[in-house]
Amino acid sequence: MKRFPAFGKFSEIYPMKLPEIHIPIIEIPAGGKVRLFMKREDLVHPEISGNKYWKLFYNINHYLDSQPQEPLIITFGGAYSNHISAVAALGKNLGIRTLGIIRGDELSDRWMYNPTLHFAHCCGMDFRFVSRTAYRDKTPLTLQLKNEFPNALVVPEGGTNLLAVEGVRHMLNEETKSFDYLCTAVGTGGTVAGISKFSNENQKVMGFKVVDDQSVEKRVSQLSPIRKVEFMEAHFGGYGKITDENVRFINGFSESFGIPLDPVYTGKMMQKIFELIDQGFFPENSRILAFHTGGLQGIDGANTLLAKQHRTLIEKI
Ligand SMILES: Cc1ncc(COP(=O)(O)O)c(C=O)c1O
Repeated sequence: MKRFPAFGKFSEIYPMKLPEIHIPIIEIPAGGKVRLFMKREDLVHPEISGNKYWKLFYNINHYLDSQPQEPLIITFGGAYSNHISAVAALGKNLGIRTLGIIRGDELSDRWMYNPTLHFAHCCGMDFRFVSRTAYRDKTPLTLQLKNEFPNALVVPEGGTNLLAVEGVRHMLNEETKSFDYLCTAVGTGGTVAGISKFSNENQKVMGFKVVDDQSVEKRVSQLSPIRKVEFMEAHFGGYGKITDENVRFINGFSESFGIPLDPVYTGKMMQKIFELIDQGFFPENSRILAFHTGGLQGIDGANTLLAKQHRTLIEKI
């Protein structure tokens, strides 16, 4: 029980604390005969935002609990990764060294022009750039890192593992029990696995896949074997691909409801949820809760790419 002490107790003990703020649930008047709400998990921390906070929570606390000498957190990610940004910010906040293994050796002399990597560097993160081929197979890479840094915590790409799934339990509370549908964007699957594991039996859990990856379903069922998740394709052409229609949707959404969305995760999920509502997918009077999982740091990187292509930018609010 030491690893998972009772709710409320570990905030004094552990370096990553339970947030003191109440995470609001906001109603989104989406039309149709259902009621749609968003839980602003993006507000949990200004830099370690949304699901990243919760996926790292027990991983980091568990690691620091073992009192490692010269603690070091190593993790993996692409140039625009929310996870890299969050781990770097966490290292800065806790005063711990961090090392990012970054996909793409071509970035080694131009990382400073990338907003995510620039931010991570300013937080004190060191980088190692690896070729896309070497990056693909993490097993030899991870073994090599564990040999080189035996005291380090090596967090998988996207932060998804069993401890991450445990952390996601904190996205659910008494208030979330009143919803029929719980919706979240899916990348590596850890977040939806946690939501499904800790939801009530009468709740339907929907995972909006922003990746075109058929292995996610299997991973989620391994991480959360008991409960079923309904998956929806929401990648709109592939992971990280930005469509003009989605940019219009995101800009309209922030203008109408005052909530910013990112173009890789929550922007795609919300567009898909609106489409499903229009198609009458949800039964009348359903109460739908969508989790805002953060990722807003990615807007600057997305806008850099959109500007190069002379396309409409995502408005920042
Ligand atoms: C903003 C945002 N939303 C959703 C996800 C998807 O989470 P997961 O990888 O656990 O499926 C991620 C990735 O961590 C993310 O950065």
